[in-house]
Order: sequence, then structure tokens, then C-alpha cells
Amino acid sequence: MTDVDLLRTRADLTRLEPLRAAAAPLVLVPTMGALHAGHLALVRRARELGDPVVSIFVNPTQFAAGEDFAAYPRDLERDLALLEPLGVAAVFAPAVDEMYARDGGVMVQPGPAAQGLCGGRRPGHFAGVLTIVLKLLHLIRPEIAIFGRKDAQQCLVIAEMVRDLDVPVRLLDLPTVREPDGLAMSSRNAYLSPAGRRRARCLSDALAAARTALEAGERAPARLAAAMAAALAAADSVEYAEVRRVPDLAVPARAEGRLLLAVAARIEPARLIDNLVVQVDAGGVRETSLLDDREATA
Ligand code: PAF
Repeated sequence: MTDVDLLRTRADLTRLEPLRAAAAPLVLVPTMGALHAGHLALVRRARELGDPVVSIFVNPTQFAAGEDFAAYPRDLERDLALLEPLGVAAVFAPAVDEMYARDGGVMVQPGPAAQGLCGGRRPGHFAGVLTIVLKLLHLIRPEIAIFGRKDAQQCLVIAEMVRDLDVPVRLLDLPTVREPDGLAMSSRNAYLSPAGRRRARCLSDALAAARTALEAGERAPARLAAAMAAALAAADSVEYAEVRRVPDLAVPARAEGRLLLAVAARIEPARLIDNLVVQVDAGGVRETSLLDDREATA
């Protein structure tokens, strides 16, 4: 048992009212649980900015049939124990029935940023993400919501929704937290055997290869994509290795300006993604944020 204020129902959310009256902003960190150091970095930043509320909900509508909804790791007690020392104001961990009273209800349709990349590979995924994120924003009404940059397309698809549907919230994306060998932290890394885990570093290796090529002056998106694909040969299969423009995710003619280098590959049962967001201009190549907010990299 922990001392974290655990909210399980919509009715429990009235316990957030005193926080709303406080001067510090409510800061939402939406998660699907199975928390790792990447999530905890988001919560620490939320604590610096205001009163963090963490949601933990494995959202069925963002998983297609045959994906890992049933297998997705769930351990609420462990998650609460990790959050307790971080000073979270509350954790909202509803049951599926609490969030979706019926099947086949209204879903939020994603905008153009959902085209291609994960949106192309996972039909319906971003409609599920946007639907749950909008519901969480309505229910919790945070002033700020923080997301991990590893899910880069998700960040941009959510930013498009917030802009186009006039949702009153400020969004931040924070840098990906990595294992010492470069592998991006992900709850799905738990699906890997020790041998698979060693091969999984090929995703961050692919991004490093593209960055090195950019630093050497390469500006042809196809050649950067080829450099990433070569490093991904260690994966069981490759879903994509692409260069896109930020924030609209258009395919650029030349690799200049703010770019997303994005990879997705399968290793054993795990579908892993990783990316690098870079500003490429006369001053060189430097890592940057997805969403235009000074706080994002502070
Ligand atoms: O990034 C995630 O964990 C999920 O997609 C999110 C944003 C919590 C929505 O279910």
C-alpha cells in the first residue's frame, strides 16, 4: 500500500477540486503504466511545474486486433510505489468500463500528422490515442500535459488535435530517456530475451548513423533513410526508417530545417520505435524538441 491518492472513478476526480483552487498548475502525465525511468522523468518535470496528476490506463481503443493489449504489462502496486517518492498529487487509474461505458461510441479522428509512420502501420491507433487523451483532458482539466518524445508522431497528432479543437492545455514533449547502450526506455522492452535485448540497440544505432551522415553534410532523405535501414538489418523486420519534416510530418525534398528521423522495427514479439528530432541549418545539426515550447528542453 502507498500514500498516493488513488482515484479509480470519475466521481473520485472531485478530490482534484482543492488542487484546482491552488496557485500551482495541474500537470497531467498520461501513461499506460508499467512505468520506467522515462515516465518518471516526465513526472519529475511535472512536479517542477506544478501539481502532477498521473493517469494509468491501458487504453483498449488504441490497440488493433492482434496487437499486445492483453499482454501489455500491468502492475499498479509497483507503479504507485515508484510514484510515491515523486510527490504526485494523485493517480487516476480507472477501469475500462469507467472510461468506455459502451462500444462503438464517438471517436476523435486524427488529422494529417497521423498519415504514414505508425499511423500507416497501426490503423485506428491514433483515433484511440486522441479519444482517450481528449477524455482525460476533459476529466482532469490540467493546464499542462507532458508527453515523452519517443512517441514523436503521437506528440504531433495530439498537438494537432489541441490546436484544431481549441483544447485549453499547454503541451510539452520531453527527451527520450535511454539505457546506457542507447536503447530508448519502453515498457515493451520487457518482451525481449537477453539476445533480443542486445539486438534492440540497432534502433538507436540507426538514428546515430543518420545523424553522423547529416553531420558529414548528407542532405538527401533517401540516403539518410538507407543509412538507417542498413543499421536496422539486425532487427527481425523493419516497419519504417524515414526522414520527415516537423511539425507537419511532410516528406522533405532536402533534409533541412526541423526534422524527425524515425524508425520502427520488430525484434522477437516486440514492436519498437525510436526517433531523433534535429534542427539542421547553416549552424550544423543539433537535437531539438517537437513542440515549440521553451519549457520543453529546459
Ligand atoms: O503514450 C502512451 O502511453 C499512450 O499512448 C497514452 C498517451 C497514455 C494514451 O493512452
